[in-house]
Amino acid sequence: MATSNSLYQRAIDVLKQNDRGTYSLPTHGLYPVQFNWDSAFAALGYRFINQHRAWQEVMQLASSQWPDGMIPHIMFRGDHDGYFPGPDIWNTGQFIETSGITQPPVLASVVRQLDEAGPYRDVNGMYDMLRRLVRWHDWFMKARLDPQSLGIQIIHPWESGRDNLTDWDQGMARVEIADLPPYTRRDLDHVDSSQRPTKEQYDRYLTLVKFGRDRHWPQAYLGQNSPFRMVDPGMTAFLLRANRDLIVLLNKYLPEDTDSIELIQSHINTLELGWINLWNPKVQAYTAYDPVLQQPIDSVSAASFLSCYASMHNDLHHGHLMDQFDRIANKVKFMVPSFDPEHADFDAKRYWRGPVWHVINNRIGLGFSEVGEHERAKRIRKDSEDLIAQSSFYEYFNPITGDGLGGKDFTWTASVYLDWVMQEADHGQD
Ligand code: GLC
Repeated sequence: MATSNSLYQRAIDVLKQNDRGTYSLPTHGLYPVQFNWDSAFAALGYRFINQHRAWQEVMQLASSQWPDGMIPHIMFRGDHDGYFPGPDIWNTGQFIETSGITQPPVLASVVRQLDEAGPYRDVNGMYDMLRRLVRWHDWFMKARLDPQSLGIQIIHPWESGRDNLTDWDQGMARVEIADLPPYTRRDLDHVDSSQRPTKEQYDRYLTLVKFGRDRHWPQAYLGQNSPFRMVDPGMTAFLLRANRDLIVLLNKYLPEDTDSIELIQSHINTLELGWINLWNPKVQAYTAYDPVLQQPIDSVSAASFLSCYASMHNDLHHGHLMDQFDRIANKVKFMVPSFDPEHADFDAKRYWRGPVWHVINNRIGLGFSEVGEHERAKRIRKDSEDLIAQSSFYEYFNPITGDGLGGKDFTWTASVYLDWVMQEADHGQD
């Protein structure tokens, strides 16, 4: 790729525009709050321009941890007026106002990347971070592990970070819409409704929030009893990888803490089995799984390709997975669509039902490079960069036309751009 100085500068400007001092917004306007995995990805970008600021971002995120170990999906800091659903709707009763669910655990993996770029200057702060990560990862096993498949389940589509993915439809159809007070969605003030979840989906999202709120957010109970439950290959792969990265950090900073190291190792062993169990022979891919009906969901999403990122070396199904990747790559101009473009429910514009998201591309691409799938990794990286060159730093993109969709000036899109461009500079590629 020809590194474009103006895009590089623009990426930095996007990060700065969304910087709120010690934390970042996904983008100003549409999302005036701190989101969990957005913040982790923000730090990934910051590590090239201001390492201290990158560390601040992740420390701030970890500081929102609940007493039970969960690091929540949204932190309401600063002026969050205009965000719906706000803290009153979640009503979590936490010291820092937050939502009542979690989001994909990429934090430990990013912390490891930050540490490689330049260790945190306060070693006690680093110990604190690692202890918090151990507690969060352990929380997942207590509150979100599906005992049947050994994969990680979500109790709200928003937990997956892939909100309206088609894979959740079957589980969402079981959610009986509660008697909700009238509400006004704020997302539609910023983005065309054809690119956002539907009204019926939104009613169900709020019904699930009400279910947790009415019970005061007992997370392990919700993990077993939420009206919506689905095992997510994304969450499973992110947590598996995050545990591997955490072990490396524990061995470096807290080698005497053998209890934590053994605990995390046992979680890795469980999640490896969980990942293998998500292999779906009918569609020849790792897929979501319905823990209520105890049946796999028969569709391929971008998360199916996170096997390499999860470091499932010697994956027996690697060849089949690459065939799936190539099949999809022949159907779209820009990889990786969030959902199978040959599926009847594919929608190139609607959020997680088809569009390309740079954060997923970044993680799939990293995994591919690590296992030597260089050509395919290159395709992902090039397509991602072409999308930005064509349409700028949007939230997500149409995989057929390359149009930018959703919010503009998106932090994580800018971060992923910096991550790739800087790595290419390091490796002397053009
Ligand atoms: C949407 C995305 C989610 C992201 C959030 C903020 O809800 O689905 O993954 O964290 O926006 O960018």
